[in-house]
Amino acid sequence: MATSRGEFSSRIGFILAAAGSAVGLGNIWGFPTQTASNGGAAFVLVYLVLAFCLAYPAFMAELLIGRYGQANAVTSLQKMSKNALQKNFAFIVGFGGIICAALILSFYGIIAGWMMSYSLEPILSVIGMADQAQWVIGQSFYANLLFTTAFMFSTIFIIRKGVENGIEKWSKRLMPLMICLLIGLTIYVMTLDGAMKGLGVYLNPDISRVLEPNLLVSALGQAFFSLSLGTSVMVIYGSYISKKENLVTLGAQVTLIDVSIAFLAGLLIIPAMYVAQAQGVAIFAADGSLISGPSMVFTVLPTLFDSMGSIGLFVAFAFFVLMSIAALTSSISMLEGPVSYAVERHNVERKKATTITGIVILLMSFVIISNLSFMLDFVASLATQYGQPIIAMLCCVFVGWIWNRNDILTEIKQGNNDVESSLFWKVWPWYTKFVCPLAIAMVFIHSL
Ligand code: PHE
Repeated sequence: MATSRGEFSSRIGFILAAAGSAVGLGNIWGFPTQTASNGGAAFVLVYLVLAFCLAYPAFMAELLIGRYGQANAVTSLQKMSKNALQKNFAFIVGFGGIICAALILSFYGIIAGWMMSYSLEPILSVIGMADQAQWVIGQSFYANLLFTTAFMFSTIFIIRKGVENGIEKWSKRLMPLMICLLIGLTIYVMTLDGAMKGLGVYLNPDISRVLEPNLLVSALGQAFFSLSLGTSVMVIYGSYISKKENLVTLGAQVTLIDVSIAFLAGLLIIPAMYVAQAQGVAIFAADGSLISGPSMVFTVLPTLFDSMGSIGLFVAFAFFVLMSIAALTSSISMLEGPVSYAVERHNVERKKATTITGIVILLMSFVIISNLSFMLDFVASLATQYGQPIIAMLCCVFVGWIWNRNDILTEIKQGNNDVESSLFWKVWPWYTKFVCPLAIAMVFIHSL
C-alpha cells in the first residue's frame, strides 16, 4: 500500500474536479443530442427529475464509499465488507468499475481527438494551410491515430502530476475557462436569426411524451453517464475529500453544476440548430426528427460556422476548444480510477503507473480505430448501457444492504454533525436500499 495519498486541498478544488469529471462530452454533446432525438423539452424535464431523484442518491453512495475507505474503489469496498464472500463481491464491483472507466476512456479519447482536430482546423485555415485543415478534420485512420494519441498524452500529462498538482490544479484552470466559453457562445447564438424558434422547441415540453419508456431509459442512462457513475471515478474522487467536508452539500453542488451545464449546453446547441436552419442548412433527418449525433456536431454546426464568414472561424474555434476542455477534465478522472488501483494495490510508482495504464488504454483505442464503425458503438454500449448501470446498482446494494447503517451515519456525520435530523438522512438510506437498485434494474431490463 502506498504510504501517502493525495487529497484535494480545498473545497472548491474538489467541486471543480468532480464537476470537471461530470461535465464532459456527455453534457455538451450527449445531452443536446438526446434532447433533439427525444422530442425536445419533454426529455429535458424527465432528465432533470431523474438526475436529482435517482442519479444524485447513487452519486452520494459512491462518494461515501470512497471517503470512508480512503482508497481506490476495490480497497474501499473491501473495507466495508465483513466476510470473504463480501470481499470477493467488493472486488468484482470495484474492479468492474475500473474496467468500465478504462473502456469508456478508450472510445471517449477518439471522440475527444475529433474535437481537438476541429479546433485546429480554423487555425490552419487562417494561416492559409487549407489542405492540411481539410486533412485534420477528415477523420481518416491516420488522423484518428494522431489526435487520439495527442489527447491521451494530454490526459497522461495531468494525471502523472497527482491529485493536487494535476487533477485539482488543471480543473481549477480549465473549468472556469470552459464555463466562460459556454456562456459567451450561448449569448452570441441567442442574438442570431432563428435562435428563438429553437428556444421554443427546447423549453416547451410535450407533456404527453414524458412517460414514454424509451425516453425514460435514455434520460436515466444520460444522467448516469453524466455523473460518471458506475466507473469507480466518484469513489476515488470521494476518497480524496477531507473528512472535514460536508459530503451531502458537496454532492448536491456538483450535481447542480452538472445539470446546469447540460441545460446550458442545450440552450446553445438546440437554438444553434435553428439558426443553421434559418441560414438554409437542413436540420431534419428523413424521418422528420432533428438531426442528432455526430452529424449534428460535425456537419450541421460546422456548416453554420462556415456560413458566418470570418467570425465563424473564431466561433468554431471557441466551440471545439470548449468541447476539448470538457472532454479533458472528464478523461483525467477516467484515468485516475485504474491508476489509483495500480498505485495502491500493486505499489507501482505513480508516474510509471500513469504512463503504462494510459498507453494500454491508448492501444485499446487503436483497436477501436482499426474497425471504427463497429467497435465504437460496441465498446460504447458495452460500457455505458451495461457496465455503468450494473456497477452503479451494485454500489447502491453495497451501501444499502452490506454496509452497517451506524457506520454510514458515523461517516456521513463527519463534516456534517446535524445530518441525523436532516431530510437527507430520513430519505436517502432507504432510497439507496430499495428505490435506486430497483429503478436502475427496471430501466436496465427495459433497455435490453
Ligand atoms: N461524465 C462524463 C461526461 O459527461 C463522462 C464520464 C463517464 C466521465 C464516466 C468519467 C466516467 O462526458
